[in-house]
Amino acid sequence: MRSLKISGREVLPIVEGGKGVSVSNGRSAGAFAAADCVGTFSGVNSDAFDENGQVVPQVYRGRTRRDRYEELVAYAIRGGIAQAQMAYEQSNGRGRIHMNVLWEAAATPRILHGILEGAKGLIHGITCGAGMPYRMAEIGHSFGVYCYPIVSSARAFRALWRRAYSRYPHVLGGVVYEDPWLAGGHNGLSNSEDPTKPEPPQPRVLELRREMHSYGLDAVPIFMAGGIWCLREWSDWIDNPELGPIAFQFGTRPLVTQESPVSTEWKRRLLALREGDIFLNRFSPTGFYSSAVRNKFLHELMERNDRQIAYTREPVGEHTQALRVGARGRTVFVTPADHQRAETWMRSGFGEALRTP
Ligand SMILES: Cc1cc2nc3c(=O)[nH]c(=O)nc-3n(C[C@H](O)[C@H](O)[C@H](O)COP(=O)(O)O)c2cc1C
Repeated sequence: MRSLKISGREVLPIVEGGKGVSVSNGRSAGAFAAADCVGTFSGVNSDAFDENGQVVPQVYRGRTRRDRYEELVAYAIRGGIAQAQMAYEQSNGRGRIHMNVLWEAAATPRILHGILEGAKGLIHGITCGAGMPYRMAEIGHSFGVYCYPIVSSARAFRALWRRAYSRYPHVLGGVVYEDPWLAGGHNGLSNSEDPTKPEPPQPRVLELRREMHSYGLDAVPIFMAGGIWCLREWSDWIDNPELGPIAFQFGTRPLVTQESPVSTEWKRRLLALREGDIFLNRFSPTGFYSSAVRNKFLHELMERNDRQIAYTREPVGEHTQALRVGARGRTVFVTPADHQRAETWMRSGFGEALRTP
């Protein structure tokens, strides 16, 4: 493969995607960098170490919310700096080290400032997805680090470019295209996209490249992320003049490496997966779709999801049937059909009623 200039250095176009919280860390990112690739550690509440090399437990002692918030910021800054130092040591000064942050998480701009200040020269780029982190470009500019916005469509990039990166074009190191159907972790499916109807990634990345071309960004690499396990399967993406410079971001596969911090059980489970074992669900409290391995916990959530019915406190419209729920036998009103379903569930032992959003 041809090397690419990423965050100011020629490296192999192979990237470990950032995985929160501490699923990619200084050790895994440093190993990618040591192999002249790009490693990304998660800068979201990462672990710091004490003088004996033990992980510092993130225990909150503050009495008020404000105090605990300050503690969180301090832990996050200390952890991010520690992971950057570890990545740098592991890398032997090779490759590039990026940090992944979650813009929506509490105090992210402050934490970013703290980490970038405390780990000067150790972090070469920041990746950030979820929502529209317009201020990232300005932060990248003031600290002299490259930015890698994560998008799932050309349209999302257009908004980021117009609002932010057009003012700081020099900080745009690359654009991560995270395929909303293929990528592990949370997925950026838009309302018009169907989780059960995947679209092939190449036309979508071509659209992104055309969008970038219209802003003169032909030399800026696109990181293809989602479903990449073996580059043999992506040979038509390599040296493809229409796609332009492409790097490949691996998220799930690095989990089964020796350097990955996840448990042996998790690694074994991933290596034993069969087609159909992974599905997109909407159980994440973030509201985004996320991909996960089917297990007993998710199975229970899916069943609970099926046992949801709409109710009102008074008889309204079709909600004509009174249903007694909960320990105190409170009366709510549901449709006749739902009443029958609810009775069947209660007879099968699902007698506890919970309110869902
Ligand atoms: C367990 C897990 C956690 C992840 N956490 C994050 C995250 O915190 N932020 C982020 O931008 N991407 C996250 N990702 C996405 C990866 O960076 C990467 O883009 C994605 O996994 C690529 O798809 P693949 O898993 O098919 O290789 C996560 C992925 C996994 C599997």
